[in-house]
Amino acid sequence: MTNTDILIIGSGLAGCIAALTAADKGKNVTIITKTKELLSGNTPWAQGGIIFKGIEDSPEKLKKDIMTAGDGHCWEPAVEQLCEMGPHLVKKLLIDRFHVDFDKKNDDELHLTAEGAHSAPRIIHSKDKTGLTIHKSVIDAVENHPNITILREHTAIDLLTLSHHSTNSLDIYKKPACFGAYIINNETCKVFPIYAKNTILATGGLGQIYLHSTNPSEATGDGIAMAWRAGARCFNLEYIQFHPTTFYGERSRFLISEAVRGEGGVLIDKSGSQFMPKFHELGSLAPRDIVARSIHQTMLDTGHPCVYLDISFKEKNWIKDRFPTIYEQCSKFGIDITQEPIPVVPSEHYSCGGVGVSLKGRTSLQRLYAVGEVSCTGVHGANRLASTSLLECVVWGYVAGENAAENDEEDNAYFPDIFDWQEESQYMDPALLAQDWLTIKNTMWNYVGLVRTRQRMMRAFTILRHLQTEVEHFYQKATMNRSMIELRNGIQTAIAVTLATIESKVSRGAHFIKD
Ligand code: SIN
Repeated sequence: MTNTDILIIGSGLAGCIAALTAADKGKNVTIITKTKELLSGNTPWAQGGIIFKGIEDSPEKLKKDIMTAGDGHCWEPAVEQLCEMGPHLVKKLLIDRFHVDFDKKNDDELHLTAEGAHSAPRIIHSKDKTGLTIHKSVIDAVENHPNITILREHTAIDLLTLSHHSTNSLDIYKKPACFGAYIINNETCKVFPIYAKNTILATGGLGQIYLHSTNPSEATGDGIAMAWRAGARCFNLEYIQFHPTTFYGERSRFLISEAVRGEGGVLIDKSGSQFMPKFHELGSLAPRDIVARSIHQTMLDTGHPCVYLDISFKEKNWIKDRFPTIYEQCSKFGIDITQEPIPVVPSEHYSCGGVGVSLKGRTSLQRLYAVGEVSCTGVHGANRLASTSLLECVVWGYVAGENAAENDEEDNAYFPDIFDWQEESQYMDPALLAQDWLTIKNTMWNYVGLVRTRQRMMRAFTILRHLQTEVEHFYQKATMNRSMIELRNGIQTAIAVTLATIESKVSRGAHFIKD
């Protein structure tokens, strides 16, 4: 058994900022990550940038853009917090403390770029690998902080709660609270509890429940599944954002940043015509949900399996310097973006919903916080504005780290005895595991995807419920390891998303019901 003041599950930008903030206040912080390195999750894949502030920009203008993109479903106080605190924290933490190498216009000025639905260029970036550059700088600080312990290759199985795990039956009368988590060491397969005064979920996205996603393999919806099982409130899960432009290859998808359109790139159909002006006055820079559905419609209209994104009319060396990652990735698939348009299609990208949190990052369970993509702050409403996600990680990582460090009352030091972990040993056939994942991915892609119908969503629920019974049965008996845990979380999260889509009767933002 291990004790810590603050347990952080996940090492993306939000988790790292929360860890540093709490550790700076003298708290013992333990970060666990299921991967080999802290540099994992969605953060290093974020290409475009992070909102800072434009020339003659203001928090009010940014707020208006976020609320318009969110299709009338954003939580105004959360948006205001992001717009007010965000640029200050970018300066204080990313620029002045971590010295992130953002691109410059000249010696004194940062380069500002635009993206879809922004009324002004206000996004700072590090070429087309902003998330990677930020994450590396922040990780450096985390690894060198004396109050932070890092457990790599450790996977959280479940949150410990008074109502589920205490051996004291009278704890059921207390307010529902979390006091840590069951963890498995991926290498030894030993399961052990970590007791924590406060726990922060920072597990990132859920993209792996879809057939095509921009998310890395570790984005299996772990945090939503754990929070759901623990009884924490989750909402807005129906708003799954599809990024309009991911590279279309027979077997591959990868992100083609919205910054390509921000820098002038245009969407064209197979005959070279710009189709976006037909759908929205902002053309290729319309909000993401609208662009994604317009691409889908154009693919149906033309009978072609993709559309194209063209930036090749810009100067060759400028393109290579501004978008080195995209240039290199596309080259591997035989596309020279300086000479020809890029074939693109929409893919799952971001969960606008998640574990509901307050302005301080607190969930509906005592002693449990959530930050980053796993959380739902209400900022994104029904459709996220580009380049808000890293900013949200910084703001809520900071406030949650601060609040958790201060949340140190007597009740937080209550750690009841828990039931012993039951080790099981049934062999897990990898063929079953692989097929179960395919069922989840195909079901979500075809029935709970970009365009939904009542029948599709209901069919998805039936398939997933049946599969969950099988997986749960298996989970109870199997040798515990990361793959089993991820599958159990993937199916739970897929069900949570599907239920949210069924319950949400109105088409709004990223939740589009055709019938
Ligand atoms: C992109 O570069 O288009 C992705 C960044 C984001 O989702 O905000």
